[in-house]
Amino acid sequence: MGLQLNGAANWCLYGKNGSKIMKQESRSMIIRAVTSFEDNNVTATSVKMNPIDEGKIKLGGSDLEITRLGVGAWSWGDTSYWNNFEWDDRKLKAAKAAFDTSLDNGITFIDTAEVYGSRFSLGAINSETLLGRFIKERKEKDPKMDVAVATKFAALPWRLGRESVVKALKDSLSRLELSSVELYQLHWPGIWGNEGYIDGLGDAVEKGLVKAVGVSNYSEKRLRDAYQQLKKRGIPLASNQVNYSLIYRNPEENGVKATCDELGITLIAYSPIGQGSLTGKYSPENPPSGPRGRIYTREYLTQLQPLVNKIKEIGQNYDKTPTQVVLNWLIAQENVVPIPGAKNGEQAAEFAGALGWRLRGEEIEELRSLAKELKPIVGFPVEKL
Ligand SMILES: NC(=O)c1ccc[n+]([C@@H]2O[C@H](COP(=O)([O-])OP(=O)(O)OC[C@H]3O[C@@H](n4cnc5c(N)ncnc54)[C@H](OP(=O)(O)O)[C@@H]3O)[C@@H](O)[C@H]2O)c1
Repeated sequence: MGLQLNGAANWCLYGKNGSKIMKQESRSMIIRAVTSFEDNNVTATSVKMNPIDEGKIKLGGSDLEITRLGVGAWSWGDTSYWNNFEWDDRKLKAAKAAFDTSLDNGITFIDTAEVYGSRFSLGAINSETLLGRFIKERKEKDPKMDVAVATKFAALPWRLGRESVVKALKDSLSRLELSSVELYQLHWPGIWGNEGYIDGLGDAVEKGLVKAVGVSNYSEKRLRDAYQQLKKRGIPLASNQVNYSLIYRNPEENGVKATCDELGITLIAYSPIGQGSLTGKYSPENPPSGPRGRIYTREYLTQLQPLVNKIKEIGQNYDKTPTQVVLNWLIAQENVVPIPGAKNGEQAAEFAGALGWRLRGEEIEELRSLAKELKPIVGFPVEKL
């Protein structure tokens, strides 16, 4: 039996098998039981106070402080992958609600990119433009609002040298209607080399246009090179944004997670809820539509079911949804900041419930070992560059 305290007014009493016996709740942090005692016929687990106050964390070796969870804005305005290739006012209102609800719930780290909502895609609106608008509207009501914007440079083959980085950043800032952003990342490695781009990141810091710099989809080798190059200028490489979730654990296997931990680089986890496939919403009978349907096929979703069922079962012990469990699983890996994509206020509100508590070690490992039985999904090919 165990007692789990969720802040002052919240508690759960569990039986030995993990079943819930009694519960009182509101929202707040979790305190976990750790020591055991014998009480007449009952073997019980007593409580040692171990509150989880998530607060903010430093991004890598930079001075930038961000929330333990961010929100991804790829789908905002996008018509190339998300939104069934259409954007309209209803989706715009929903995206705005995702932004506002995130901030209302204290999640202030928002990830976008210059290529999200690309002008080359019919009917799209640039995600940076939308984010800039949302920030401006909120600032009018709340001038002291707290937000940390992360955006990205697209290493397109015709963009050469360090100047292209600062130029692209200035264009992003103009769409965002901001004078600086908190984090600027190289979206993927360049095919002709990366040294010029890394110099460009350093220039952006020195010009005061960004507080911190990072990379994305970088392998261990590229990460080490970028880290050393920036270090010579006294600039920390703060983050590497990679695909990481229960169903895509490559960073654990290809040295990227270990290297981030060793060098003090924060791993920002993208597609952390498997693009919706780990939320319990999709099933072999109800696969996602559009391009996602080609990755998360009926066949894939069939083999995913045992894992999703286990996630649901574990979530019931904590009164948490599958989405909250899988985000918590990532946060529990330490040095990982997941950035799930929210299309509306409900999704954003659900993310907030991933914070303030932790899965038990044995649950974390049980989920990992079930996930290992799955056939891997195909990732972004640039990771191998
Ligand atoms: N650096 C890179 O190369 C890279 C690549 C990919 C993504 N990213 C970043 O990472 C962010 C997140 O990744 P992602 O958008 O690919 O995948 P994700 O966060 O794993 O999945 C997001 C999708 O899951 C569904 N969803 C969200 N909350 C849900 C909930 N509570 N219940 C049920 N379904 C829910 C939504 O789609 P539906 O409602 O339509 O199901 C949503 O668009 C992106 O927005 C972007 O900022 C970066």
